[in-house]
Amino acid sequence: MDLQLTDEQRLVQETARTFAREEVLPKASQLDREHRHPKELVARMAELGLLGIAVPEEWGGAGLDNVSYVLAMEEISRACASTGVILSVNNSLVCDPLLKFGSDPQKREFLKPLAAGEKLGCFALSEPEAGSDAAAQTTVSHRDGNGWVITGIKNWITNGPVADTCILFTMTDRAAGSRGITAFILPMNAPGVRCGPPDRKLGIRASQSCQIFLDEVRLDDSHRLGEVGGGFKVAMSTLDGGRIGIAAQAVGIARAALEDAMGYARERKTFGQAIAQHQAIQFKLADMATEVDAARLLVWRAATLKDRGARFTSEASMAKVFASEVANRVAKEAVQIFGGNGYVEDFPVERHFRDAKITEIYEGTSEIQRLVIAGNLLKE
Ligand code: CAA
Repeated sequence: MDLQLTDEQRLVQETARTFAREEVLPKASQLDREHRHPKELVARMAELGLLGIAVPEEWGGAGLDNVSYVLAMEEISRACASTGVILSVNNSLVCDPLLKFGSDPQKREFLKPLAAGEKLGCFALSEPEAGSDAAAQTTVSHRDGNGWVITGIKNWITNGPVADTCILFTMTDRAAGSRGITAFILPMNAPGVRCGPPDRKLGIRASQSCQIFLDEVRLDDSHRLGEVGGGFKVAMSTLDGGRIGIAAQAVGIARAALEDAMGYARERKTFGQAIAQHQAIQFKLADMATEVDAARLLVWRAATLKDRGARFTSEASMAKVFASEVANRVAKEAVQIFGGNGYVEDFPVERHFRDAKITEIYEGTSEIQRLVIAGNLLKE
């Protein structure tokens, strides 16, 4: 693995860093307090080519690679983890499966506007009774002439309240289990689709999620993504890539907590000197910095493998489980360094602490990542 970024990758990093510092960071705490979807930032990310980073230009994207994607994810998430996950869902969970499993007409109709940022996507796999056990789908799809009729409920759908297009998973043959799941491309304005109110969340409050109710939604067969019964593989291979994006988001959150703690430690004085001069604080900062770098290396490795077309399931899970746990440890230590000021909304570390938690839960909990890693270890 080459640890030297290419000129193009450095340019993406610099562009995302400048945008994050100048346009995203100044709004982050207010967006969080208001639980507001940052429509204007999404529009700017579209202008910067960030919504379909690894999608070829012919399909509306920026034609870059997955290393560029994780660089952008870290920078945006360092400023605002909510804006980071909006970016991640559109790139990893929506554009990626359309690119991999979509037909050319589907790419033309659905992928192009999503990768160009003219539309925004969501990914609907989870249900009230199917989270970690993703194969336990109860949303059903029945054949009806040349089309399908779909009924069910989806839960915690990130971007749901603001999405135009949804990658939807349904059960076509319950007896077949995970081989009975079929994926569809659902326009969110299709008759029978209704979003519940946005979820009230602990963190990433500016990223809106909701339930989606599907009441006899009719879709033409041209909306089917991949094979009938092939939906579980679409979901799992999509999540492999998504987990790299969430790992990069976690690195961004951890870096935010570390950098804010360093700034505070240089300013805050106790016992006649800046707290950064106390070894108790220095040891914390040293451990935090080491963990952030280690997490980033795992993220870069997984992204590099994906770019090379190699298998990366296990490496994506390793990156996600490690980076998300680092984000939580580092944010916790940052709150400790801030002391009382870490516990109030006037400073950003309480937001990092709240935002970090979800990275251990969505796109597969830490427990699921460990199952995936162990499963792959024992298979070899
Ligand atoms: N790529 C391709 N195919 C895969 C795969 C992968 N990474 N992993 C498994 N499969 C295939 C298997 O080969 C197998 O195929 P066959 O039937 O042909 O043999 C099939 O899928 C079933 O595999 P398993 O028996 O391993 O499946 P399982 O039911 O035991 O589940 C699991 C495995 C890893 C626990 C899986 O259910 C899982 O990942 N659960 C977590 C779900 C998750 O991450 N949800 C996140 C929701 S989305 C979200 O969070 C978005 C957001 O808000 C931002």
